[in-house]
Amino acid sequence: MLSRFVIASTIVATLVRAGPVIQVSPQTKYQQYDGTGISEAFQRSLVMHELNLASEKIVLDYLFSNTTGAGFTILRNGLGSSPTEGYDLMKSIAPVAPASNSSKIDFQPFSREDQYQIWLSSQAISRGVHTVYADAWSADGYMKTQGTDFNGGYLCGVTNATCASGDWRQAYANKIVRYINNYKSHGITIDFVGFLNEPDLNTTYASMQSSGQQAADFIKILYPTLQKAGLTTQIACCDGSGWEQQRERLTGVQQAGYENEIGLVTSHGYSSKPGAPFNTPKKVWQTEWSTFDPLNFDWYRTGSQSEGLTWANNVQRLFGVSNVTGHLYWWGAANDTDNQALIYINGTSTVKPTKRLWAHAHFGSRLVRKGATRIGATVTGNAGPLSVTAFANTDGTTAVQVINNGDNAETVTLQGLKLNTVVTYLTNQASNFTVGNAVVSGSVAACEVPGRSLLSFYIR
Ligand SMILES: *[C@@H]1O[C@H](CO)[C@@H](O)[C@H](O)[C@H]1NC(C)=O
Ligand SMILES: *[C@@H]1O[C@H](CO)[C@@H](O)[C@H](O)[C@H]1NC(C)=O
Ligand SMILES: *[C@@H]1O[C@H](CO)[C@@H](O)[C@H](O)[C@H]1NC(C)=O
Ligand SMILES: *[C@@H]1O[C@H](CO)[C@@H](O)[C@H](O)[C@H]1NC(C)=O
Ligand SMILES: *[C@@H]1O[C@H](CO)[C@@H](O)[C@H](O)[C@H]1NC(C)=O
Ligand SMILES: *[C@@H]1O[C@H](CO)[C@@H](O)[C@H](O)[C@H]1NC(C)=O
Ligand SMILES: *[C@@H]1O[C@H](CO)[C@@H](O)[C@H](O)[C@H]1NC(C)=O
Ligand SMILES: *[C@@H]1O[C@H](CO)[C@@H](O)[C@H](O)[C@H]1NC(C)=O
Repeated sequence: MLSRFVIASTIVATLVRAGPVIQVSPQTKYQQYDGTGISEAFQRSLVMHELNLASEKIVLDYLFSNTTGAGFTILRNGLGSSPTEGYDLMKSIAPVAPASNSSKIDFQPFSREDQYQIWLSSQAISRGVHTVYADAWSADGYMKTQGTDFNGGYLCGVTNATCASGDWRQAYANKIVRYINNYKSHGITIDFVGFLNEPDLNTTYASMQSSGQQAADFIKILYPTLQKAGLTTQIACCDGSGWEQQRERLTGVQQAGYENEIGLVTSHGYSSKPGAPFNTPKKVWQTEWSTFDPLNFDWYRTGSQSEGLTWANNVQRLFGVSNVTGHLYWWGAANDTDNQALIYINGTSTVKPTKRLWAHAHFGSRLVRKGATRIGATVTGNAGPLSVTAFANTDGTTAVQVINNGDNAETVTLQGLKLNTVVTYLTNQASNFTVGNAVVSGSVAACEVPGRSLLSFYIR
């Protein structure tokens, strides 16, 4: 008579022979993990707030719940620079130009509590979000060579940006401190603050250009200003529009001798795709990336850049190849009919998640938590269509994400870890982070990964 164990071992033995083996190596340690996140800048927080109460809760849970949603833990808010607040603008707390660069700024209270970003931050934090990143797309127009917060231009006072009105770097730093203190008075800590967004571009919306040297010229003022204000907020730099644009700016900051003054290196994924890691000891986040094609709810159809499986690969490569410690998609939820958001909002009651949302859940707090360490994980032999990442949480649990980019199912076995309970989560065209089981025998777990799927093992 066969015992249960023998049956299980027989199955595993069969599976081992049949399919690829994933070797996890907990002793091989890579970067630390901070989290995953989204933004609702440019008043998408207002669009969310316009939903009826029931739908509002649904969308917040989809994004931030660590039991039913994607488990995002980082929120990137927009630090306003616009003098007015029509839809799609981010209103400044310093909209009126003072008499001179040395005059006191007449700060104004937040409009609609920072266009519902205070509300959103509180809602997100109550669901487990632990990090808030406030990022300015530009300084106020009167602080810049351009005279407007849109159409690019430079911050007056940095190298090559001399203005008749003088040097506005201290005024800009003071405004940033005021913004952080306003959040503090609402009980919200801004952990990181950025003063640039895509500084390699001049755009028709809020934008401010900057080289690495010019960023360093402001960091040398902002850093002591934050210190003097007694704030623990760390500086993030520079949200380049693509990986290589950011690498150039990071190099400039390093050459100017100001890398130590920043706490976080931030880059977007648009103009050049995330690739080789940056040469820095600092935390590195990809802080904004999406596509602009018509709304796409598919997991896998043609392999287009807007599908869920493509984003599963993007996120896995960010952690596994580009060595990021955090990854943020662009908007979490929005009413735009393209792929700038992970969830589509239509009117005041319709909330429709895309498959891209569920791809992100595999790298969010339901499986990987702040302080986790990425560890070694390889497909032994020919990996074929499989790719893998693994993270060791501080509580002893481990998450292993396996992507099958092929059409055929692959029965994989996992080895190298002490296995107690093993739960699996599957996302593909038919499943959204659906819970399942692996066959466990001794120190080996086996599970079928269907074609074109993302399956995570969660080991307790
Ligand atoms: C999950 O979210 C709750 C708030 O809803 C938070 O208290 C808890 O720490 C979070 N757990 C994990 C593991 O992130
Ligand atoms: C940015 O573009 C606008 C519109 O094309 C142009 O007017 C402005 O001069 C540009 N700014 C800089 C600094 O090149
Ligand atoms: C300043 O302008 C000069 C002359 O155009 C240029 O060579 C230099 O690279 C610029 N420096 C910065 C930091 O932008
Ligand atoms: C105002 O600009 C002038 C001229 O660049 C500069 O000397 C002065 O330090 C600036 N004032 C402040 C408060 O930064
Ligand atoms: C990965 O990032 C960490 C900082 O989080 C750094 O210490 C490490 O050197 C980086 N590794 C590579 C290969 O760049
Ligand atoms: C999104 O909602 C905002 C606020 O209600 C509205 O002004 C805007 O026109 C909407 N955008 C789209 C694309 O529906
Ligand atoms: C949004 O809702 C309207 C009204 O119900 C509907 O006509 C429209 O097709 C919906 N848009 C999308 C992209 O689903
Ligand atoms: C999975 O989510 C999609 C939206 O992304 C939804 O259309 C579908 O009904 C969900 N499937 C299941 C099995 O829950």
